[in-house]
Amino acid sequence: MTEKIDTREFQLLRDYIKEHCGIYLDESKAYLIENRLLTLMIENGCSNYTDFYHKAVNDPSFKLRDKIIDAMTTNETLWLRDSSPFKIFQYELLPAFLKQLISGNKRSVRIWSAACSTGQEPYSIAMIIQEFSRANPLFHPSKVEIIATDISPSVLFLAMAARYDALSISRGLPDELRNRYFEQSGKVWSLKDTIKNMVTFKRLNLQEDFTSLGHFDIVFCRNVLIYFSDDFKRDVLSRIALRLKPDGFLIVGASESVSNYSNIFSMLTYERALYYKVR
Ligand SMILES: C[S@@+](CC[C@H](N)C(=O)[O-])C[C@H]1O[C@@H](n2cnc3c(N)ncnc32)[C@H](O)[C@@H]1O
Repeated sequence: MTEKIDTREFQLLRDYIKEHCGIYLDESKAYLIENRLLTLMIENGCSNYTDFYHKAVNDPSFKLRDKIIDAMTTNETLWLRDSSPFKIFQYELLPAFLKQLISGNKRSVRIWSAACSTGQEPYSIAMIIQEFSRANPLFHPSKVEIIATDISPSVLFLAMAARYDALSISRGLPDELRNRYFEQSGKVWSLKDTIKNMVTFKRLNLQEDFTSLGHFDIVFCRNVLIYFSDDFKRDVLSRIALRLKPDGFLIVGASESVSNYSNIFSMLTYERALYYKVR
């Protein structure tokens, strides 16, 4: 068996991964393919990466393709990640939405978490909405719809289960929110239905057409563009722009640039954090 990937095999698998999920790996990332696909290669009875590639290409059920995508995606996430997007949301956007809802300029608020991983991002959004509503009883959480999507079936399964172990629950979540919105049973923390039921999960590859999702007041597309090729970043940003309502907002990850890949958006700041709207 050959555990080491050669240049040709790297190119085959790199192109396969890019074609099926948009993730782009340059030569320096050959080790990632070795680290993440070796077990799958062995499980599939392949003795080298060339056989493994052909097995994936010729698998009519696409099961192996999905396992490769699962293995190659980075699912790192945590509660209230980077804090500032959630401050923008809580202190800038929700108060503005409340005014519009009261004046009748808006009937509802639609939010999309476009690469939601195991649910921490959309559920953080939902908890912030509940907190905002506690402080502003005129704002009713039922006015908000949260759609959360991801390419990976395994993270979506965990997100929908909404049960977290001690390590996941400890990452970024203040005790106050944990105690209010989760129930502990042994080592497992289960999210209460009040929050869980606010989020609808769907499988979506951002390479696919997403017009059927409708239009949104806010799109959170965070810490996923960073893995894509420049062309795919441009493509996703231009299609997200079409999904935003005229006064809608885009929030990306702290290390992700919008202006390098699109001139459709203008940049807004809240304290020192950035968010975007269509020009
Ligand atoms: C690092 S996580 C980010 C999670 C969350 N947005 C955050 O900031 O904490 C990236 C997620 O993007 C998903 N992803 C990768 N490629 C994707 C694609 N082509 N379409 C949709 N989701 C994708 C992965 O499955 C993973 O769950």
